[in-house]
Amino acid sequence: MVDSINKPGRLRPAPENFLSEEQIKAVGAGRRDFLRKSFLAAGAALAAPVVARASEGDSAILNLPEWTTTLGQAVAVRPYGVPSKYEANVIRRESPGLTRVGAASVSFCPLQSLFGIITPSGLHFERHHQGWHDIDPARHRLMINGSDPEFLKKPKVYTMDDLMRLPSVSRIHFIECGANTGLEWGNVAVPTVQYTHGMLSCSEFTGVPLKLLLEDCGVDYKKARFVLAEGADGSSMTRTIPMEMVENGEVIVAWGQNGEMLRPENGYPLRLVVPGVQGVSWVKWLRRIEVGDKPYATKDEAVHYIDLMPDGLHRQYTSIQECKSVITTPSGGQQLLDKGFYNVSGVAWSGRGKIKQVDVSFDGGLNWQTARIEGPVQNKALTRFNINWVWDGKPAILQSRAIDETGYVQPTYGQLRKVRGTKSIYHNNAIQSWKVLESGEVSNVQVL
Ligand code: MTE
Repeated sequence: MVDSINKPGRLRPAPENFLSEEQIKAVGAGRRDFLRKSFLAAGAALAAPVVARASEGDSAILNLPEWTTTLGQAVAVRPYGVPSKYEANVIRRESPGLTRVGAASVSFCPLQSLFGIITPSGLHFERHHQGWHDIDPARHRLMINGSDPEFLKKPKVYTMDDLMRLPSVSRIHFIECGANTGLEWGNVAVPTVQYTHGMLSCSEFTGVPLKLLLEDCGVDYKKARFVLAEGADGSSMTRTIPMEMVENGEVIVAWGQNGEMLRPENGYPLRLVVPGVQGVSWVKWLRRIEVGDKPYATKDEAVHYIDLMPDGLHRQYTSIQECKSVITTPSGGQQLLDKGFYNVSGVAWSGRGKIKQVDVSFDGGLNWQTARIEGPVQNKALTRFNINWVWDGKPAILQSRAIDETGYVQPTYGQLRKVRGTKSIYHNNAIQSWKVLESGEVSNVQVL
């Protein structure tokens, strides 16, 4: 079993702990019968540690708990559902290593505690350059204009009601901040996957394709080749998006997230969804779109979100998030409690399309095995992978390596640093390594 500083006991039970044939048959025999028979079956069929517990008499089986003997709570006691109190450790966290500047900060998503590919909205990571607001949708507007009247014939202002009458689409996409895994460039080796990779989330977004709005405003695609998106918060967040990304219909002006309205922290009531592109271009509290004929070189693309290369030059407009993956369980800060079977699980993603394959190594990259991909695999979305592992109790180094549909293979730190040097902050998609000690302790290490 695995234990975690953030959340205990998340690995699936070892095969020897699965229900025995007798236990399964006993389910049909009524609850009391089942409890007695399952206790007997446990003594006969289960592995040593469990046998010991059963022979002592497991009170969790022998004594009926209060949830079986008392009346439960009524419906709608909580009109909006919240997680169990036993899940109180599954929360967004601020990194102890990052300084908060006013309201400008980051909270990281607890990847080690999540299953599948959808991030619950309340756990979606947050990155605000100037804090968040809960904006009144009745007072929110989206203006669409051109930097020259030639580029867009009919500039318009839309209310939320105007927008939500239009034909909408719902699509599942990941969003990753360009600075995700940024501390690892300096080999800082922060302790948990929440801090190494937690500026990553994946939701179903609902909204109207930006293409539809631009065409409604009479865009001239021949002349208007770039879009500037602007947020309504005090950070003057503005980003240039090439028109090809809009023309293919993928960019969405979204109001929905996982079946409900966006959360205020994530841009309520309107945000831009730019699939495959780094999070900063997903402008929140979206209030204006301008079309123009050249990139705008705003502060958030000329000074920030650029990469210092080994030759001293800066790389700009590297917006697509390259193929990447990480094992989320077991991961740094967790503890394997005994040797035996584990379901090793993680997520993979690519800003260039679908994930084709994920390989996993248990010996620091010497040998690789192909993991099971949990489909259906979606375009520019998180993809869950799983692989069986029988831990022999000896030290191990766990790694995952993703390959996307373009054939791009996620690089090692050695390969990435050869091209990018060591002075970057952004766009680190190197293979992550988790070291398992004989004690079962799991920690972050860098393997070149
Ligand atoms: N949009 C506005 N208006 N203001 C911001 O501070 N932060 C950007 C982007 N959009 C930001 C913004 C950054 S850097 C990222 S990574 C994503 O929003 C984070 O989105 P999230 O907070 O929903 O996770």
